[in-house]
Amino acid sequence: MAKLTFLSHSAWLIETNQYNIFIDPFLEGNPQAKIKPTDIKADFIIVTHAHGDHLGDAIPMAKASNALIIANNEIANYCIAKGAKAHNMHIGGTREFPFGKVKLTPAWHGSSFPDGSYGGMPTGCLVMLEGKTIYHTGDTGLFMDMQLIGEMNPVDVFLVSIGDNFTMGVDDAVKAVEFVKPKLTIPMHYNTFDVIKADANDFKNKVNAKGYNVKLVGIGESCQL
Ligand code: NI
Ligand code: MN
Repeated sequence: MAKLTFLSHSAWLIETNQYNIFIDPFLEGNPQAKIKPTDIKADFIIVTHAHGDHLGDAIPMAKASNALIIANNEIANYCIAKGAKAHNMHIGGTREFPFGKVKLTPAWHGSSFPDGSYGGMPTGCLVMLEGKTIYHTGDTGLFMDMQLIGEMNPVDVFLVSIGDNFTMGVDDAVKAVEFVKPKLTIPMHYNTFDVIKADANDFKNKVNAKGYNVKLVGIGESCQL
């Protein structure tokens, strides 16, 4: 059974028997992260978009442990140019990796690198492993096609941004849950900085009122998939 650990912000670690898969490993410079980039060996690193709070430490982590970065074409090429291993894919595409499958989904957002260069279209991702499907929204506003994503890929765990300002806020994220219809929802991308303060209990209550399950996962806490 795989283990899913919240590293803070939009950063997650999925541990299978064989592999450590990070998503958006923003650790260095993250006021809430409890681990350092080199504390846990990475095998695969999925990057949803190029913003510093998502690309994070992906490149140094990948170089330190020979991990494979999985991202859109523009981000993968950037990482390869910086000396990391990367697999290029893009929105709508699915690819099988040793741990399972990744499909990149749309996201309504921006995606420039911290140095200003172009990161292509931002994404979310579906991670399918051991018979479970995780949907990480990345940074995005609410969009109707989430309904299609949920219909075509029954989602076990929905990792959804609720911090507002840069992404969906609480009420839009509640609507996203209604669109995706996941078995379990976990909010993310809130309270890391003042500008994305959000009331996770308010989110939980509103999602529960619609008949869906929510778990508030603290930083460093894990749940079994
Ligand atoms: Ni962003
Ligand atoms: Mn962000």
